[in-house]
Amino acid sequence: MKPFFITTPIYYINATPHIGHAYTQFAADARARFERLRGREVYFLTGTDENAVKIARVARAQNRDVQEFCDELAAQFKAVWDALGITYDDYIRTTAPRHKVVASRAIEKLWQSGHLEIGEYSGWYSVPDETFFRAEDTIERDGEHYIAAPTEDQTKAPLEWVEEKTHFFKLSDFQDFLLEYYTAHPETLRPVVRRNETLAYIQSGLRDTSISREMDWGIAIPNSIPHGEDHVIYVWFEALMNYFSAPGYLSDDAAQREYFEQLWPPDVQLMSKDIFTRFHATLWPALLKALDLEMPKELFAHGFWTVGGRKMSKRDPETIVEPVAFARQIADFAGTGFEIGVDALRYYSLREVTFGSDGDFSRAGCLARYNSDLANGLGNLVQRALSMLSQYFEGVVPEGKSDLGLQSAAVEALPKIESLYEKLDFSNALNEIFLVVSQANRVIEEQKPWARIKSGEREAVAGLLRELLAVCQFCARALAPIMPFSSRRLLKLLNVSPDTSWNHAADFGVLLAPGHRCASPSPLFPRIKNLEEAITQMTTGSSNEMAPNQAQLNMVDASAPPVEALAPQAETKPESAETKLERATIEYEDFAKVEFRVGKVLEAERVPKADKLLRLQVDLGDEQRQILAGIAEQFEPETLVGKSVVVVANLAPRKLRGFESQGMILAASSPDGPPLGLVTIDADVPPGSVVK
Ligand code: MSP
Repeated sequence: MKPFFITTPIYYINATPHIGHAYTQFAADARARFERLRGREVYFLTGTDENAVKIARVARAQNRDVQEFCDELAAQFKAVWDALGITYDDYIRTTAPRHKVVASRAIEKLWQSGHLEIGEYSGWYSVPDETFFRAEDTIERDGEHYIAAPTEDQTKAPLEWVEEKTHFFKLSDFQDFLLEYYTAHPETLRPVVRRNETLAYIQSGLRDTSISREMDWGIAIPNSIPHGEDHVIYVWFEALMNYFSAPGYLSDDAAQREYFEQLWPPDVQLMSKDIFTRFHATLWPALLKALDLEMPKELFAHGFWTVGGRKMSKRDPETIVEPVAFARQIADFAGTGFEIGVDALRYYSLREVTFGSDGDFSRAGCLARYNSDLANGLGNLVQRALSMLSQYFEGVVPEGKSDLGLQSAAVEALPKIESLYEKLDFSNALNEIFLVVSQANRVIEEQKPWARIKSGEREAVAGLLRELLAVCQFCARALAPIMPFSSRRLLKLLNVSPDTSWNHAADFGVLLAPGHRCASPSPLFPRIKNLEEAITQMTTGSSNEMAPNQAQLNMVDASAPPVEALAPQAETKPESAETKLERATIEYEDFAKVEFRVGKVLEAERVPKADKLLRLQVDLGDEQRQILAGIAEQFEPETLVGKSVVVVANLAPRKLRGFESQGMILAASSPDGPPLGLVTIDADVPPGSVVK
């Protein structure tokens, strides 16, 4: 089988990378790691786009040598990707000789084969977008021209008039070919919404496109082509060529050319939706066809990350979240290492939205998910399994059989996860894995091994433990593409080699056979102790960011564990197995401390700038309380007025978005879904009545 070839866009280096860029890297890295785990050779290509006019302008404005400026920024990009665990196999810089040579040769080839012609270009050009605009797509105001209907990330600044002799790529020649190709191979364009958009764009008519510019920064049009003097290749046209220059197309090195032959075409090319239709799904395949190169197998456009509804973009600095700084922050809040913070970020990004859709990035939401899914879910499971193993069986896997359905749940989940990874449906792949985690935690609750061991049922507990360890191993394998650092740590705790392949994910017998010794327990994902404080600390100063969604915040109290986790929490300091297991249940006296009362909703209104919060005034009989509840997306405020709800009346007050919440109302939800219904009273009881 040929090596698996996956690409990301090459990023402009006029600013440092943000979460939007990191997102494409996380996705590409997850897919690349998955293929490697399955034993396939992978060529994962990323890089930087350095020949843009805007980059030269930024450098010159700072009195810098442009190449030196590029070297510095490219190094910064690489450092960020390395820190985030991005396992790219090649990094292409468009100022590197290997790219320049190939780009000029490709242009020569296009000229010789009649795909270029010389013409006169006059029209509007946007430097920030590095894009030409037809006159009919611009508008005139006060003597300046602007993009008539700019998308949210296109410039609102005046356009530049360009009038020059230029080289045109005869794109119109490829209109029929592209339509036919995509009709015969619809799977090339994903998701479907982008395919439809692309077909409509091509059907509306393709025009020949100018591919050279009179500039002093970029790759020169070769001398062999008439009127090439002072012209460089249009940066977009040249940037696309990175995908073949890097692996060795038209290279001088025979071995490199041979590798290229073996590798081509790309299996998956990832990018966000803004550069899909016009560039990657039209210009790029036309260029390939003109050079007689095979079409990519799949072009996939993911959505945008927004912050408070605005696209995360270097042009809107308030929206920027820097991935390395943020990963460090997560780790610091949890009191753990940087790499676990990186994994938490990778997890959140790929879990939060379906790949292909837009999502609103919330750092608060990410922390909340860390606690609910990672600390309380997976971390808890691992901690409990290893604590029991250490305490009851001296850390050695015992003999013992049980069939509580956990092993089979994992075995059944595996092929589903595999096919979801193949489809780049990371969110659902994670969902499948975490369903098994929840099931395992539930089985522990039901089986109460701490009680059974006391009553002498050692064999049953041994069987349960074997299943739990198997699930832990399954999680480590199945999560490895997305959370590589945690996966390694978990395998280390299980004392299993990280080098075994994907097929071992469901291999329960061999690696964790009786007699195998595991390491002593140590929390994989220490819980963020005061989540709400952490969130406040983090979001102060970024008024733009949305409040976390309430499912994540678990109703009004952000630091409370989710309902499914009235179970041991992973703490920073390792606890003894005894204390941890005893906390699986609570004593009656503890429960009795919680005061539930009936409250009647008198008023309800939305909280400005917090899409998920409602502010309720609630009658508790002898007093009126203000309570903030994260249910604004599910309930219209007016439908709540007059309802009798259940209030946790003796919860310490907390400030949320500047309002004090004096209690909490109860709602039912699936473990990590939004609130689905409020807990109400089925009789006409007066406000203030005690619920017990
Ligand atoms: N240099 C061109 C691409 C040339 S590829 C031959 C370019 N560079 S860019 O720096 O603007 O980065 C574009 C890519 O960054 C997007 O395709 C996407 O992968 C990523 N993203 C940038 N902002 C993003 C969001 N807010 N959300 C999601 N991804 C985004 O265009």
